[in-house]
Amino acid sequence: MMRTQILLWVLVLGLSACEQGELASSPVIELDNAAMTASFDGQVDATTLDAGAAIVTVASDGGAVLVGTADGVFTWNGTELTVMDVYAEDPAGPWVTGAVTAMATRPQGGAFVAAESGLFTTAYGVLVPSPVNASLQDVVIGGLAVRGQGEAEELWIAADSGLVRVTAGLRSDFDLPDGGRPLMVAASDAALLVATDQDGLYVIDPVGMAVSRLDGAAPVSALAGAPSQLWALTGEGVIGQATDGAWTVFAGDPAAGEPRGLAVDDAQGAFLVTDMGVLELTAGGSAATIGDTVTWPQGLQVTVAAVDGSGHLVAAGFDATAVAPVVGAPLSFEVDIAPIFERLCNSCHISGASGVPLRDFTDYAQVVAIADPILERIGTGLMPPAEMPQLNDDEYDAVVSWFATGATP
Ligand code: HEC
Repeated sequence: MMRTQILLWVLVLGLSACEQGELASSPVIELDNAAMTASFDGQVDATTLDAGAAIVTVASDGGAVLVGTADGVFTWNGTELTVMDVYAEDPAGPWVTGAVTAMATRPQGGAFVAAESGLFTTAYGVLVPSPVNASLQDVVIGGLAVRGQGEAEELWIAADSGLVRVTAGLRSDFDLPDGGRPLMVAASDAALLVATDQDGLYVIDPVGMAVSRLDGAAPVSALAGAPSQLWALTGEGVIGQATDGAWTVFAGDPAAGEPRGLAVDDAQGAFLVTDMGVLELTAGGSAATIGDTVTWPQGLQVTVAAVDGSGHLVAAGFDATAVAPVVGAPLSFEVDIAPIFERLCNSCHISGASGVPLRDFTDYAQVVAIADPILERIGTGLMPPAEMPQLNDDEYDAVVSWFATGATP
């Protein structure tokens, strides 16, 4: 499992000021952390960030974190929130999203956003009205999930009218056994999870639409899915589907705090945000606390979370006056990568003796210049040579994902 890294920031965006139409200034708490799985060293700093509206939901669009608010969508780049503009081909618009109600990450990259003025997709850093809108005129969207890619992509909607699937532009509607209204939906390659307003939690085979109920799980407060996993935050604790299809219940550990939000990404892992911190979940049934206890500012109630492809974990929530994202920064060369190369590669390459190509693998510019040969040599096991100390799995994953997520200096 790849380990995401380094920093968690918590931003608190004041709500009360927004109601008066001003930008709210809000503290940012930075938690310094050597690795997501290691313990926080307890360093907590506060700074401020300006934002305008209540955060409703957060999602990943692959690279960036999307923050859906009552005013529209923002992207989070690790330091600031930037408004995401709408680009409509139709001169009549819509040119703004209005209040966001739900977002869903697409396995192929990008995301769907459901908002007041319809359904949008992300493309090249902007939001584009979805062609599917025409067939969804009568649908009030409460939750979204995406399954599959390309022509086989399915958009699943928890709507006021029932469960709706749109694929290849065609809409199908499904009722749930308890007659309830679906509130949330999550999708993996293997199954759908749907929670209803009748306290039902259903596992649905998305091909044959066979429905089975997961008993004793009410009430459900969050669902999260990625192509290889499904998770639910229920009254009994957290349940997750293991690779054999069985559901595992993670008994709540009172010391880890009260569960609040879930974030799942196949590359990064599954995370549970509690009122006291962040836990990493594994399908085998364990939940390990990442770092120390977090004291959320102002009694903040974290309710939604997302993790993106470059190692950002974002949690947002609110009490009467505040909302907060938490962000884990990606791997950095200096902190995470250079020490590995220094130990395992420079032992030969720094001297250039005995015909070894002369390289300094602690030099960022030299390393990014030969990214492909490095990935090829470590991937095929040719470097370090067999008789020398090797990269362990975590080190290998760290190097590969560091290159894959933009090779941060
Ligand atoms: C035992 C000494 C030794 C160690 C340790 C070692 N290398 Fe090498 N490396 C060599 C030699 C000798 C060559 C030239 C022969 C070849 O290309 O296979 C080489 C070639 C390379 C090349 C291709 C030439 C170039 O520089 O473009 C790359 C890339 C490389 N090594 C990367 C690494 C990395 C990354 C590590 C550490 C993970 C590492 N090496 C550790 C001895 C070493």
